[in-house]
Amino acid sequence: MRRPRRNRASSAIRDLAQETILTTNDFIFPLFLLEGKNKKSEVESMPGIFRLSEDLILKEIEACLKMGIKGFDVFPVVDEKYKDKTATRSYDPDFFYLKTLTKIKKEFPEALIITDVAMDPYSSDGHDGIVEDGQILNDETLDILGQMALAQAESGIDMIGPSDMMDFRVGYLRNVLDEQGYTNTGIMSYTAKYASAFYGPFRDALDSAPKFGDKKTYQMNPANSDEAMIEAELDFNEGADVLMVKPALAYLDIIQRLKANFNIPIAAYNVSGEYAMIKAAGEKGWLDTDKAMMESLLSIKRAGADMILTYFAKEAAAHLALQR
Ligand code: PBG
Repeated sequence: MRRPRRNRASSAIRDLAQETILTTNDFIFPLFLLEGKNKKSEVESMPGIFRLSEDLILKEIEACLKMGIKGFDVFPVVDEKYKDKTATRSYDPDFFYLKTLTKIKKEFPEALIITDVAMDPYSSDGHDGIVEDGQILNDETLDILGQMALAQAESGIDMIGPSDMMDFRVGYLRNVLDEQGYTNTGIMSYTAKYASAFYGPFRDALDSAPKFGDKKTYQMNPANSDEAMIEAELDFNEGADVLMVKPALAYLDIIQRLKANFNIPIAAYNVSGEYAMIKAAGEKGWLDTDKAMMESLLSIKRAGADMILTYFAKEAAAHLALQR
């Protein structure tokens, strides 16, 4: 007679029998960088998340490092006046984003800094590739992504995060970096990135929504799982160091499938909309924010994620510290 409840009978046996343990080491904190000094603005659809200027982002990283958060993904908020068809500012060494990255790495060499390689925040079309007659061009976009990745690598960051979903970009970028001597710059590939409704608040944060159409000709169809395996195989063979699944919660099956089939770390991006949902329901008193946050992060890890990009990083780290 097997009675599974015996292993749930006390807090002690529950702790001993626990299969998955979430730690602050699992978290990567996405940050939004503003141009200028002493500037801070809350993202309306993401309560508790702020766009920060360089001076304040340095302070934020310092505070996070003290809490044990080691990884950061930095995204630039680009003013409309800087945007153009070919995302020129993305590889302009004088642009504030690249300058701040250099500063961050200089001040906190121990922090793992990840950058986003995609045209959308710099593109006047709001798309991740060059737009011509309503089409998103693939191979022409690679050239720009290469210049962007190289400029970011030159700033000293640790890992690039190609998030555009163009074909061949991982191999192309690996080659560009290696040719210029950046063999130590890693690639966290947005491998299975779905055309998702859950990116809404992020696009509010950066004001980067597409000006026309949607992203369905490059981001994946939420209905597909085998296709994620093809993307993963390509990225793995093209030299990715980490494979990412995005979003996380509605795609736990994809995380599990990648983890079972590829022997490199799997990352999951607990995206802006997933954060917003829990925050909004919490504010209404419809659920316990803290518990829902910890349960979702734990579930993402249980599914197989080795690292989790999450806007909850700081709150979850604080929660874990209290539990000790
Ligand atoms: C840019 C990019 C996006 C996100 C990360 N990098 C938005 C998009 O593809 O439209 C979304 C992150 C989030 O929603 O938290 N390509």
